[in-house]
Amino acid sequence: MTINRRNFLKKSAVTSAGIGVATIIPAELWATGTAPSDKVNVGLIGCRNHGYTILRNHLEYDDVNCVALCDVDSNILNEKADDLKKNYNQHPTLYADFRKMLDQKDIDAVIIGTPDHWHCIQLVYCLQAGKDVYVEKPLANTIAECNIMVAASRYYNKVVQVGQQQRSNQAFKESIGMIREEKIGTLRKVNIWGNFNYGLGSIPREDEPVPGGVDYDMWLGPAPERPFNRNRFHGSWRHFWDYGGGLMSDWGVHLVDMGLWAKNLTGAPELVMTWAGNISKEIRQRDSFDTMTVVYPKEDYVINWDMTAGIEQGPYEMLYGVAFIGEKGTILTNRYGYRVIPEWDNNLREHKTDAKQVTGIRDAHSLHVRNFLDCIKSRETPVCPPEIGRAAALHVHIPNIAARVGEPMLIWDDSNSRFTNSSKANELITPEYRAPWTLPKIG
Ligand SMILES: NC(=O)c1ccc[n+]([C@@H]2O[C@H](COP(=O)([O-])OP(=O)(O)OC[C@H]3O[C@@H](n4cnc5c(N)ncnc54)[C@H](O)[C@@H]3O)[C@@H](O)[C@H]2O)c1
Repeated sequence: MTINRRNFLKKSAVTSAGIGVATIIPAELWATGTAPSDKVNVGLIGCRNHGYTILRNHLEYDDVNCVALCDVDSNILNEKADDLKKNYNQHPTLYADFRKMLDQKDIDAVIIGTPDHWHCIQLVYCLQAGKDVYVEKPLANTIAECNIMVAASRYYNKVVQVGQQQRSNQAFKESIGMIREEKIGTLRKVNIWGNFNYGLGSIPREDEPVPGGVDYDMWLGPAPERPFNRNRFHGSWRHFWDYGGGLMSDWGVHLVDMGLWAKNLTGAPELVMTWAGNISKEIRQRDSFDTMTVVYPKEDYVINWDMTAGIEQGPYEMLYGVAFIGEKGTILTNRYGYRVIPEWDNNLREHKTDAKQVTGIRDAHSLHVRNFLDCIKSRETPVCPPEIGRAAALHVHIPNIAARVGEPMLIWDDSNSRFTNSSKANELITPEYRAPWTLPKIG
């Protein structure tokens, strides 16, 4: 699905009122930006894990050079630079501070692979420096930051792809296609679950001195000052509210996005019902919850999210999955395939739709990256623009907020960007940035 930016804006006019954009941007400013020449020069911010995977996905294509790498951990920076030299014949300039990297004139596009609390600042700085951006999911760690990022992407008119790569995944694309063709009749419900052991967090450990080669202050950035603890650092930061949203946002944002895509919903939720708890007896270090059930009532269907971190058995013996439940059958989908399970018609003595099973679908990161690269050249809108990233992010941040403030039901007024029934929840919309960092301003 390719959404032309102008059409998308028309369609989402109501939603856009809620993202805090005071200025209406004249249509002529939406003229396409300049495409880079044949080769796309990319830089990466945040190199340890997924950012580097996405960079390698870029380098699978002949029309990409890596010209810059940035990380606050020099051990990781040097390790990845060595790998790029040895295995990809790439010789990027190395940086510890992304602001300095953005002064490098030959960078066309930046990949943001840092923890979620950095995405907003870094995206806006990249856009202001005139770069196209592939920003990892979830779009940001708070609702206010998501709003700023959508507004900034529109204002600076660059190509922004959010790393919700299931939008490029063949299993999900075909499943959604079958829903559109009414192969399973009227869609009534989307049941989603994500049960992963890692969602419990890590075994507790003591605070310790900052490891050599790490600029911890720049790792924390806008997040509160805290003593260094490995459980809040590389990889496991995702279980702490200052930097991430636990399993609910880590996997939820990918999977709930599929529930929205099923009916092409691109806005914020209006009502969210949440149950969350910490039931596991395992002693682990985390802020996030181990058990959550979230119900998202929509106009003509319902989305349901279930997670039990630490219990990996899920429905249909799948540890994660999406069941699109229609009147003629259910489509059961994960990243590697799908199965159509037909309903039985007792009168006609036949199935209401055809059974089908597709396996062996490959991971979609490369395809998602290719879509980004093609859009850099064509100046089209990629398959997952910030508006879609925001919709998915709000669907996972709101239940986390509900659980944190103990409100089983939250009502969201997107036009005013406020909850109408909880002042405590409203306090969690906007993060308090640690000086000298401030929420980015646009313009
Ligand atoms: N799309 C997917 O399937 C997928 C999968 C995994 C992770 N992710 C996302 O990718 C992002 C990174 O996750 P991860 O697992 O790779 O985390 P990670 O902790 O393994 O890596 C983050 C890297 O960013 C660096 N970093 C932190 N602050 C920095 C700064 N200010 N400047 C430069 N570098 C900085 C860290 O030193 C580290 O090397 C997250 O947003 C995560 O949600 C997406």
